[in-house]
Amino acid sequence: MRCSQWCFLLLVLILEIVASCDWDDCDEGMSLRQLRGQKTSQAAWSFEKPDPELLIWDRIMHSALNSTTGRVNRTIYNGWLKVPLVHDPALMEFEMPPYVCLRVRGLAALKPPAKNGPMLAHCGGPGSGRDCAMTMSAANFDIDGRHAIISDFDLLSIDQRGVNTSSDRYERAGKWGEVPPCPFNLSGRPLSRFPTIYCDEIAKYVEEPRKLMKLLTPIQGNASVEHHWKTYVEPIWRSGKIPYADMAPTNETFVRWYYRLVKLENSLCYETPRYKMRAPNGRVYNAMQFASTVDCAHDIDLLRRAIGADRMSWYGASYGTSVAGVYASIFPEVTHRVVMDGAVNPRPDTEARSGSCANGIQAVWGGIEKDCETSLVRNLSADEVCPAAPRVSSKALHVLKGSNRTEASYLLELMLFTVFHAEALAPLAMACIEQFYSGKEVEGCNKVLPMLSSYRIASNSSNSTKAKKDRFGLAIQSAVMGTDSAGRFDEEEFINWWRRVKDTDPIGSLWAKNWMVAMSTWPAYARPVPPVADAGIEAVIIGNLHDPNTAYENAQLLKRNFPEGYLVTWQGYGHCLTVPQHAMTLLKSYNKSKANNTLPEYTNGVAKYACMSKIL
Ligand SMILES: *[C@@H]1O[C@H](CO)[C@@H](O)[C@H](O)[C@H]1NC(C)=O
Ligand SMILES: *[C@@H]1O[C@H](CO)[C@@H](O)[C@H](O)[C@H]1NC(C)=O
Ligand SMILES: *[C@@H]1O[C@H](CO)[C@@H](O)[C@H](O)[C@H]1NC(C)=O
Ligand SMILES: *[C@@H]1O[C@H](CO)[C@@H](O)[C@H](O)[C@H]1NC(C)=O
Ligand SMILES: *[C@@H]1O[C@H](CO)[C@@H](O)[C@H](O)[C@H]1NC(C)=O
Ligand SMILES: *[C@@H]1O[C@H](CO)[C@@H](O)[C@H](O)[C@H]1NC(C)=O
Ligand SMILES: *[C@@H]1O[C@H](CO)[C@@H](O)[C@H](O)[C@H]1NC(C)=O
Ligand SMILES: *[C@@H]1O[C@H](CO)[C@@H](O)[C@H](O)[C@H]1NC(C)=O
Ligand SMILES: *[C@@H]1O[C@H](CO)[C@@H](O)[C@H](O)[C@H]1NC(C)=O
Ligand SMILES: *[C@@H]1O[C@H](CO)[C@@H](O)[C@H](O)[C@H]1NC(C)=O
Ligand SMILES: *[C@@H]1O[C@H](CO)[C@@H](O)[C@H](O)[C@H]1NC(C)=O
Ligand SMILES: *[C@@H]1O[C@H](CO)[C@@H](O)[C@H](O)[C@H]1NC(C)=O
Repeated sequence: MRCSQWCFLLLVLILEIVASCDWDDCDEGMSLRQLRGQKTSQAAWSFEKPDPELLIWDRIMHSALNSTTGRVNRTIYNGWLKVPLVHDPALMEFEMPPYVCLRVRGLAALKPPAKNGPMLAHCGGPGSGRDCAMTMSAANFDIDGRHAIISDFDLLSIDQRGVNTSSDRYERAGKWGEVPPCPFNLSGRPLSRFPTIYCDEIAKYVEEPRKLMKLLTPIQGNASVEHHWKTYVEPIWRSGKIPYADMAPTNETFVRWYYRLVKLENSLCYETPRYKMRAPNGRVYNAMQFASTVDCAHDIDLLRRAIGADRMSWYGASYGTSVAGVYASIFPEVTHRVVMDGAVNPRPDTEARSGSCANGIQAVWGGIEKDCETSLVRNLSADEVCPAAPRVSSKALHVLKGSNRTEASYLLELMLFTVFHAEALAPLAMACIEQFYSGKEVEGCNKVLPMLSSYRIASNSSNSTKAKKDRFGLAIQSAVMGTDSAGRFDEEEFINWWRRVKDTDPIGSLWAKNWMVAMSTWPAYARPVPPVADAGIEAVIIGNLHDPNTAYENAQLLKRNFPEGYLVTWQGYGHCLTVPQHAMTLLKSYNKSKANNTLPEYTNGVAKYACMSKIL
């Protein structure tokens, strides 16, 4: 239809309505001025008394938290932050975007007012939320029990866009009570929270497989459609991933169907009405387009302004290093101290990020293998020697390529599982490698098998039909990382990449392909994050040699981008600082050894503790 006279008139009318609102007279005028950085009385606001145009604390709790040297009383502020859906001053000149509410939490410094100002804690994901500072502060931020950090910083955390605000550990029925509604209004209507990001749209089609298959691929003939549905599509959809049974994760046909299914799920999800938001002038925005790391960094800077702080410090773990790094790059003049623990690849590129995910996982497996092999030549008692040594990798490969597909599937799943829980599971995984290789029972193996989904499916005819809210567990990762990264891979490019990675990083590829598919199939336009770098900020960057989530190389890349920064290398397993559950036990045993004038036994935990206490 051509734009006729009436349509033109309508356009003029809308423009006039918009123009007739002088922003500074509207009730939202204040926030707009603040957004443009024109507010001058910022210093008037504080953590306890924030700018009511931006942040309203609605629940203040006093809660005793365990620290390493006994319980401490914390004052915990909970509230809503008001943010524009689109952080774009250029857009603001012309029209007002929709506004949304984000739930935030602050732990007041033990000695107010906080000498060092606020510190934002982000625990990664994407998908972790506002309980990060609380979790961290219990022990991790206070490992020596001297309260240096919790005394002099106000700790802050935020529900990043898309996080499920109702799933918080503290604000729910039976604890502090349900989350109160957001108090902010826009044009007389209450503002809504940023919607929870989750994807399960294919569910609508599952009763009509034929219709679904049509959306997925052109297949000729009824028998063939039925076959593909039963063999590949339904098992993948029901388990939310490629099931391990029969080595399906190494089977290219399964991997292709996985790509197609996630792609369809992401496309349908992106168009869902629950993410559509209306601006005051009626224009409809898709919230899914605005959930990137840059959006998050701008939200957090509004939080800083709301509490009238000149500077903000950062503790970012895992993906939190991305948020911290992007913030420091966009807002260097207000960035104070920065710790980046478990550095995510700073390059906003799909292949770089998926590749480093595969590398990280493979490096953990490599470390476990090495430890197993060296146990043979160290002077250990027979029951301390790794059962799978020597030649662990050859034995594992023999099982994975062997004719017993059941055992191969168990081992494949167990190896990936072990990478994420190395300390607990490595000895059991080694027992299984030896048991499957030699055919003789090795102590420990049969204990770990029931934890595996492939074992449960094999020993139980019913498969997993558990209802899932986020079918593939990738929605918020897709929305954030997909928007952050350039370089989408279509199905053929993806398969070529997978074939290569499957050979170089066989265990890593199991998990890395999920990230690759999540990012590659995200339908929104990419808005890649800026180069994460600053010449002045003395960021502390922690790289882990054997971290399943982040490759060590990432930390080296980041250090180059922060020339004034410090690089700490953690040689053990897992994320360096994030060990809150260990801190108290470690401090106690350290104290004991010290009293005895002996050195503590050098374990993974003790090393982690030493690393931590050096940094904080
Ligand atoms: C704190 O420590 C006490 C005693 O050590 C324990 O009973 C309590 O469960 C702990 N609380 C938390 C939240 O960990
Ligand atoms: C913490 O607060 C509670 C209640 O307000 C009080 O009974 C307790 O003595 C306080 N503990 C400390 C260590 O200040
Ligand atoms: C959000 O969390 C609440 C509480 O755990 C849960 O009932 C709800 O289903 C979750 N919503 C989504 C979309 O996952
Ligand atoms: C929003 O509107 C409600 C109802 O009109 C009002 O009670 C409330 O105070 C308003 N909120 C703010 C922050 O002005
Ligand atoms: C395919 O199945 C549909 C519905 O069961 C049926 O109407 C149609 O005739 C079948 N086509 C072929 C080629 O068998
Ligand atoms: C892939 O899986 C299908 C279905 O289970 C099977 O028929 C096929 O042989 C497998 N391909 C390989 C290479 O294992
Ligand atoms: C090996 O350990 C045994 C006892 O644990 C000890 O007697 C022996 O001296 C050790 N040998 C070497 C070469 O360290
Ligand atoms: C394959 O491995 C399973 C589990 O260890 C075992 O129960 C089964 O007998 C093996 N099958 C063959 C043909 O060896
Ligand atoms: C088999 O699966 C059903 C449903 O998932 C479960 O309730 C049951 O406990 C399982 N049985 C065994 C032996 O694992
Ligand atoms: C999984 O369970 C569903 C429902 O019980 C069933 O329709 C489907 O065929 C099963 N799939 C496999 C691969 O066992
Ligand atoms: C460890 O020792 C320090 C000083 O020696 C003391 O302040 C602290 O309370 C001790 N911590 C534990 C958990 O025993
Ligand atoms: C401390 O020394 C005593 C006596 O030498 C010993 O029995 C005890 O096990 C030692 N404790 C620790 C923690 O090393």
